[in-house]
Amino acid sequence: MNRRQLGQSGIEISCIGLGTNYVGGHNLYTNVDEDEGVRLVQQALDSGITHIDTADAYGFGRSEELVGKAITGRRDEVVLASKGGILFGDHGTGASNDAAYLRAALERSLKRLDVEVIDLYYIHRHDGKTPAEDSFGTLMDFKREGLIRAAGVSNFDLSNLQAAATSGPVDAVQSRLNLLQREAEADVLPWCAQNHTSFVPWGGLAYGLLGGRYPRDFTLDEKDWRHRTGAFDGEVFQRNMDAVDGLKKIATECGSTPAHMALQWLLSRPGVGSVIAGAKRADQVIDNVAADAVVVVPEVLASIDALTAERI
Ligand SMILES: NC(=O)c1ccc[n+]([C@@H]2O[C@H](COP(=O)([O-])OP(=O)(O)OC[C@H]3O[C@@H](n4cnc5c(N)ncnc54)[C@H](OP(=O)(O)O)[C@@H]3O)[C@@H](O)[C@H]2O)c1
Repeated sequence: MNRRQLGQSGIEISCIGLGTNYVGGHNLYTNVDEDEGVRLVQQALDSGITHIDTADAYGFGRSEELVGKAITGRRDEVVLASKGGILFGDHGTGASNDAAYLRAALERSLKRLDVEVIDLYYIHRHDGKTPAEDSFGTLMDFKREGLIRAAGVSNFDLSNLQAAATSGPVDAVQSRLNLLQREAEADVLPWCAQNHTSFVPWGGLAYGLLGGRYPRDFTLDEKDWRHRTGAFDGEVFQRNMDAVDGLKKIATECGSTPAHMALQWLLSRPGVGSVIAGAKRADQVIDNVAADAVVVVPEVLASIDALTAERI
C-alpha cells in the first residue's frame, strides 16, 4: 500500500483509507450489520490500510465504539481519525464549535474509542458562529496537551479554512469530492495543494454510484442519509448515470473496474492525501485496497476527467 504524508504532521497515511459511517451508523443507513462493521475494519488493517476515519456523529457514538473494539490490540497499526462539533443526543441538533463543547466531545470520543490519543481530529463542520481561528485554536490546545497528534477541518469553505490556518497548521481538510461532485476543485483543493494540507475526499465513490452496479431505476430507502447528497435526485441522478456509463466504458477498455478508475482519478488530483472509501462488506475493502496498485496512464486519466470536467 502506498503512503503519503499527512499535512505537516510527520505522520504517514495509507493512500486508501477506510470510511466507517456504515460501521454502527444506524442513524445513516437501514439494516446496519454491526458484526460485519467490525470485520471490515479488521479487514482494512489486514489489507494494509492504516487510515481509519470515524466521527462521534456516526451512529451517535456507536461507530467509535465499534472501531475501538475492532482495533483492540492493534493500536500501533492505525492512524485513527475522528471528528467532533456536531450536536446529537442530549446536546440537541446542529453544530457547536465552541471550546467547551469540542473538549467535552473529544473526551467522549477518546473514551468510546478506548484510546489515549486520536491521531487526526477534525472539526466536523463550521457552526456558523464560532470564528474558525478560535475553534481551530482549540484543536491546537488539544495538540499541545497530547490529546491529538494532527488537526483538521471538515466541510469548511475557503474563507473559514483560511481563518483556521491562522491558528496553526491545518494537516487535513475533509470535504466532498468525487468524479460526479467536483465543487471542491474550484478553491479548497487548490488551497490544500499549495499549503501542505492533505485533502481527504469523502464520498469518493459517490456513495456507491461510481461502483457502477446501480440500475437507472435505483431508489434509496427513505431513511438512507444519501438522500442528502443530492446525487440520487431526479435529473441529476440520470446525468450522473450517464457519466457512470462513460466511466464503465473506459474501465472496460482498460480491463479495470469503475471503482478502481474513480479512486485512481481522485489520487491523481494534486492535494489529495488519502481516499477514505466507505464499505458495507469486507470484500469491498479488499477491492478498494486493490485500487492502490492500479496504474492509470495520463491519457486515460484525462478521458476520465473529461467526463465531468464542466462540474468544477
Ligand atoms: N466529513 C463528512 O462530512 C463526511 C460525510 C460523509 C462521509 N464521510 C466519510 O467518508 C467516508 C466515505 O463516504 P461514504 O461511505 O459516504 O461514500 P463512498 O466512499 O463514496 O461510497 C461507499 C459505498 O460505495 C459502495 N462500494 C464500496 N466499495 C465498493 C467497490 N469496491 N465497488 C463497488 N461499490 C463499492 C458501498 O455501497 P453499496 O454496497 O451500498 O453499493 C459503500 O458503502 C464515510 O464512510 C465517512 O467516513 C465524511
